[in-house]
Amino acid sequence: MEAGMHKIVNDTHPSRDIILKMPKIEVHRHLEGTYPIKSLFKMAMKNNLDVPSDIDTFKKTFQFPKNHKPDFLLFLSKFKKFWYKSIDDVKYITLKSVEALADENIFYIELRFNPLHFTELTNLDPCEVTQAIIETGDSAAKKIGLHIRYILTFNRGIQTANEMIHTYKLLHNSDLSRVVGIDLAGDEINYPPELFTPFFDLVKKDGQFRIDIHAGEVTDTNNIWTSIDQLHADRIGHGVSAINDPKLQNVLKEKQIFLAQCITSNYQTGAWEDEPSHPMKDLVESGVPVTIASDDPTIQDSLLTDDYMKAIVNFNWNIDSIIQLNLKSFDSTFLTNQEKDKLKKEYLLSIESFKNKFRL
Ligand code: HPA
Ligand code: ZN
Repeated sequence: MEAGMHKIVNDTHPSRDIILKMPKIEVHRHLEGTYPIKSLFKMAMKNNLDVPSDIDTFKKTFQFPKNHKPDFLLFLSKFKKFWYKSIDDVKYITLKSVEALADENIFYIELRFNPLHFTELTNLDPCEVTQAIIETGDSAAKKIGLHIRYILTFNRGIQTANEMIHTYKLLHNSDLSRVVGIDLAGDEINYPPELFTPFFDLVKKDGQFRIDIHAGEVTDTNNIWTSIDQLHADRIGHGVSAINDPKLQNVLKEKQIFLAQCITSNYQTGAWEDEPSHPMKDLVESGVPVTIASDDPTIQDSLLTDDYMKAIVNFNWNIDSIIQLNLKSFDSTFLTNQEKDKLKKEYLLSIESFKNKFRL
């Protein structure tokens, strides 16, 4: 069996087609890692970019290479910034990405993006980009009947804490009423969380947004502790190393700080050595708050559906285990309690019709 692959699907597991149709919740997803490959290819051709002109080679070039050994920095290097020539490109790729969420029946998503990703190689204005993504995403989501909120990502390898503060203040010139969180992403090995304390002190003091930190993905739990103690993390991206730290697990339980874990991503980045033994199962069984997410489907060449399948097959879970996990995941969201209650009721209705449809 290829390293990292899930076990053979046995007859007792629901098919991928059924899981594709299951209503899903996702709180850890990067817009920049969500572009449907066909739409990205179309945009690259329109913009006359210097990229392979056949789609299969194009796909291979911009995704994490199949059968490559896990590699965090190689994974991060796949986020290219040369795609965009205009604000219409940003709108186009956002539209196609949000439309694709409907294909796998995402019910609620907190979609994150880094405004500076779109401006670094263009002369676009970060506020205009932020506005364009939110408006395009909202209007597509409304048509589809999808619930969406946004998280603004700041990249630790690109900006210092003071530069982040500057960008954060600048972004307040856009309408941020649909934004629920601030995220710290990028290379946590070379840029540990303590470097960003002044920025997150400010975000915390403002009280307008919740805080989500990528931590303990490819490091030990020190980065998770610091994210909680110094960056005021409300949620942790990945936090895979928490499996080795029972004291931390107790704190996560007490404070109800969720780990958003991503089986495929965690294998490709080297956060965990293979998919079948991913620690999510043990963490969930010991009561640590965990939610399942996809991270970057385009780069990984796999959907949230595939992460659900891997959990079902490898952990011997069934559809109800995933439904239970999703119901708990409402508490991982950055919504108000009132919004959570309302959406949970709606989610239960959509689960009911999903189950009826497939006679489950
Ligand atoms: N880790 C850190 N930064 C990221 C990731 C990740 O897995 N995905 C996108 N940006
Ligand atoms: Zn991420």
